Amino acid sequence: MPAAGRGERLGPGTPKALRSLGGAPMLVHAVHALAASRSVDLIVVAAPASQVDEVKAMLGQQELASDISVVSGGETRQDSVARALLALPSDVDVVLVHDAARPLVPPELITSVVSAVRRGAAAVVPAVPVVDTIKQVGDHDEVVGTPDRSRLRAVQTPQGFSRQVLQAAHARADGDTDPATDDAGLVERDGVTVHVIAGHEEAFKVTRPIDLILAEAVLARRRATGGLG
Ligand code: C5P
Repeated sequence: MPAAGRGERLGPGTPKALRSLGGAPMLVHAVHALAASRSVDLIVVAAPASQVDEVKAMLGQQELASDISVVSGGETRQDSVARALLALPSDVDVVLVHDAARPLVPPELITSVVSAVRRGAAAVVPAVPVVDTIKQVGDHDEVVGTPDRSRLRAVQTPQGFSRQVLQAAHARADGDTDPATDDAGLVERDGVTVHVIAGHEEAFKVTRPIDLILAEAVLARRRATGGLG
């Protein structure tokens, strides 16, 4: 679980994963969601380098069905994931990578990703259709293209992989000057087919201040209706 981002687009303050959502840090929600899926044995969190001990203490207090370990994250998301991969025991053969910044991911989505990998896919991403028309722009903010919207998807996490495929992609990409913004992007570079499954609107990433308002509202609705959270 990459959780080492600074969260600058959310405004100044604590690193994003440690910001409060409904009274608990986002990271705590994300960890509970993974553990609640019952298909995750071990969660490795890549925490901000200066907060590793704080995160260890915070997660140590949670009652979870999964084991937890905490490592120091890196300068980029790709780096943070690579560091977390190094902490995996040798008997792990399926790996999910899940952004701490997607704290409200429904456990059913996690289970669907795991099932797709267990059925034989080397790489699986949950995705939703995009609602806006997307423009590609050039160096001077001029539009250079309009991809067919019906073919575009916004991808979410958890993304699921055969451990060997993901680790090989990270090993090859180590030191690249253009780090990938998701893990599927890395394995694509290796020519691996990435399968898309239906994502979930509640697996959105908390990035901007408005996302935090939406997340609070989703959580309040879940609590009012007796759901998770
Ligand atoms: O920056 P972005 O929104 O793509 O971050 C997605 C996830 O990657 C977040 O959970 C963030 O904490 C994590 N991240 C990280 N290490 C970094 C940058 C981002 O673990 N250096």
